[in-house]
Amino acid sequence: MPKKGYFSILFCCVKRLTDTPDLNLNKHKYMEYTILKTDLTEGILTVTITREKAMNALNTRFFEEMDHLLTNLPTEAKLLIITGAGKAFVAGADIAEMADKSQEEGERFSLLGQSIFNKIERLDIPAIAAVNGYALGGGCELAMACDFRIASTNAVFGQPEVNLGIIPGYGGTQRMARLIGKANAMYLILTAEMITAQEAFRMGLVQKVVEPNQLLETATKTAANILSKGPKAIKLAKKVIRDGLNMPFDDGQKLEAKEFGSLFRNEGEVGMKAFLAKQKPVW
Ligand code: CAA
Repeated sequence: MPKKGYFSILFCCVKRLTDTPDLNLNKHKYMEYTILKTDLTEGILTVTITREKAMNALNTRFFEEMDHLLTNLPTEAKLLIITGAGKAFVAGADIAEMADKSQEEGERFSLLGQSIFNKIERLDIPAIAAVNGYALGGGCELAMACDFRIASTNAVFGQPEVNLGIIPGYGGTQRMARLIGKANAMYLILTAEMITAQEAFRMGLVQKVVEPNQLLETATKTAANILSKGPKAIKLAKKVIRDGLNMPFDDGQKLEAKEFGSLFRNEGEVGMKAFLAKQKPVW
């Protein structure tokens, strides 16, 4: 049963995560969302950014709502899809909000975006970016904080910050180099070039490109496919890939072996025995 706008009315627990700087977030027990639209259907939580007039540019209000959402995810949400309304996925951080900031305020705005995008990356459920249009600056950074990206043919990617005399500030300098390599990241960030979905696919920034009218359907089908697998295996695969990237190779392999073992006499037994019995596993 779809639960539209579920979060606006139902959130009640408040938790301040330790990696969020003191930004006065999570102060509202109940939050009426004005930017995020949510839909929870069969375990898939689709979040649409709806600041269409400003090309879904990321302002403080967006971060407050997103922080509230991420901090209060219901247990029924097993996978997150993030997309944008209108012509843009997200055209970047809100330039109008940033233009008059002091050095200190600029740094805090960067820390704010970083902390929220880290929360997306560190969710124990998968997160898919369904990129429907412009994914520029903070928009490209938001997409990169998700586990992978599905883009429509009309999506446009780029880190155009140097055009504005600034650099990416929501983790883009770090995530992009790790995702598509130093040279590709240097190329995109130093030239500020905007690239097509096809070019982003070629670089490995995007994992699938589909027609615009197929975007949400493809993201939802991909999500349903993931949700049909062993749920503990999905959680641990995500965790081991993500955490392993932040540790030396040998430590990453140790972590892999430990979690591999943890699935035996567990979900792994169900899956392997079902295979041998030529049956579908019931998780
Ligand atoms: N911030 C604030 N407002 C934005 C915005 C942004 N990032 N991007 C677009 N808008 C606003 C425009 O100002 C315009 O508002 P008005 O109608 O009030 O004038 C409205 O959205 C529509 O935009 P355009 O008229 O420019 O639409 P277009 O179709 O001609 O162009 C675009 C679309 C190519 C996305 C263009 O808007 C653009 O280049 N936007 C800025 C992209 C950018 O530089 N992003 C990086 C931001 S910095 C950042 O993100 C830093 C970081 O890493 C933290």
